[in-house]
Amino acid sequence: MKQTANTNEGPKQDYVPALGFAWATRLYDSAIRISMREGLLRKRTVACVKQANPSEVLEAGCGTGSLTRALARGLPNANITGVDIDPQALKIAQEKLDDADIVKLIAANLLNLVDVKELSEKRFDHVVSSLVLHHLTTGQKHIVLKNLWALLNKDGKLTIVDWGPPVGIVQYLGFWLVRLLDGLEFTGANREGRLPSLLSGAGFTVENVKPLHQTALGTVWLYQARRSPEGSTNQNITLGDI
Ligand SMILES: C[S@@+](CC[C@H](N)C(=O)[O-])C[C@H]1O[C@@H](n2cnc3c(N)ncnc32)[C@H](O)[C@@H]1O
Repeated sequence: MKQTANTNEGPKQDYVPALGFAWATRLYDSAIRISMREGLLRKRTVACVKQANPSEVLEAGCGTGSLTRALARGLPNANITGVDIDPQALKIAQEKLDDADIVKLIAANLLNLVDVKELSEKRFDHVVSSLVLHHLTTGQKHIVLKNLWALLNKDGKLTIVDWGPPVGIVQYLGFWLVRLLDGLEFTGANREGRLPSLLSGAGFTVENVKPLHQTALGTVWLYQARRSPEGSTNQNITLGDI
């Protein structure tokens, strides 16, 4: 791994940590492994990114680095940049990625991504984000998606893997636990299937939306989109979305 640049000022915690509470971040990897058939989820996610054969990949909200490591193994010829706001999660990621020199980790808030010095000259052909958007309010999702749009090359692609409308009664019930842990206001748009309209509103052409992975805690959906040349129009955003 190349280096970790810390662009955060101070330890203010104005974000939802990986498992809802800062003290629980060290338990995140075990929790995901046990509750989400993680190996299969990562394999499916990497396969979606690999389809596009990218060479510069940004992972937005890389957390403890498990997907980052899977991406580094699956895309050995790509450069991978992982960004997360949580220093505790990044420390765990750093330990996992110590020998992966194609990976660079950056501590930054996705809400301010376009102002991050390390990214100012950089454009990516693929952005992937896994289980992150449901940590943001609907308004924050819109800002983050616009920032991701701005960091993509013309024709760059976006792969979002995150909770969507539960498919099945077990998933419907299980997702309540996720919602209570991560917050109702953050998870509402995911639950209601509003990510595609938020993607269009941030300047993306949505190409593929489907359930990707069933877990006892809910249904993880795949959202694939392409950067539209005309950019953010807000056309599909209503006050209800924000
Ligand atoms: C559930 S974890 C997912 C981690 C990883 N992507 C995965 O698939 O395991 C959500 C991550 O989003 C990060 N996050 C939440 N809000 C953020 C923000 N505003 N900027 C950057 N990262 C953020 C959290 O720190 C956490 O690591």
